[in-house]
Amino acid sequence: MKLVKHIANLGYGSRKDVQWMFREGRITDANGDVLYADDAVPLDAVRIDGEPLDPPPGLLLMLHKPVGYTCSTKDPGRIVFDLLPPRYRLRSPALSTVGRLDRATSGLLLLTDDGQLLHRIIAPKSKLPKVYAATLADELRGDEAASFASGTLMLEGEKTPLLPAELEQLDSRTARLTLHEGRYHQVRRMFAAVGNHVAALHRERIGGLTLNDLPEGQWRMLGEDDRRQLFDCV
Ligand code: URA
Repeated sequence: MKLVKHIANLGYGSRKDVQWMFREGRITDANGDVLYADDAVPLDAVRIDGEPLDPPPGLLLMLHKPVGYTCSTKDPGRIVFDLLPPRYRLRSPALSTVGRLDRATSGLLLLTDDGQLLHRIIAPKSKLPKVYAATLADELRGDEAASFASGTLMLEGEKTPLLPAELEQLDSRTARLTLHEGRYHQVRRMFAAVGNHVAALHRERIGGLTLNDLPEGQWRMLGEDDRRQLFDCV
């Protein structure tokens, strides 16, 4: 792929913008020598304003999503892409969230531009566990774990029962819930189905991946070890 197209696809600007960046001498090699748009150089040798290029397609990153941000790109309010470099929204192939978290849910959110990887994570047959910590409005009754584990619980408006899910009660109003599928507002609807209400929800884990000490609102690029860890538990 030509340099101009590659750099434009990374979200640095339109092809025309990138051609201007070459003309302005902003695109150099690692020694600071100005590059021209028709030069053939390895991508890792390219600098823009002295900085290495963003990583090529094949990205997987984790974000510690705060409450108050939506996963949609169309929402007029705060969106998770506001927490990433603005260029990342303009990349081609596009970066998208791996499933969604509600505006009122915090925690681990993955983003990728790799369609196959996205499918591998969210496809129903992957059954990758997703672990949530829920704070409930009312005290747990004690029979919720059996109900969630039954494999027969039906959510309102759905035609197939939920897969068995594991509930660990942490105290009278908090619980850790492990799901092996991802239906719309699933955790909130599950607790509604047993007569409770989720007051706060946080996703702690997807597969074998956790946020560790990644602060809220921060993100980090994931590498090979993280990808192995993601699928490790299956
Ligand atoms: N279940 C929910 O209800 N909300 C989320 O954000 C994720 C799972």
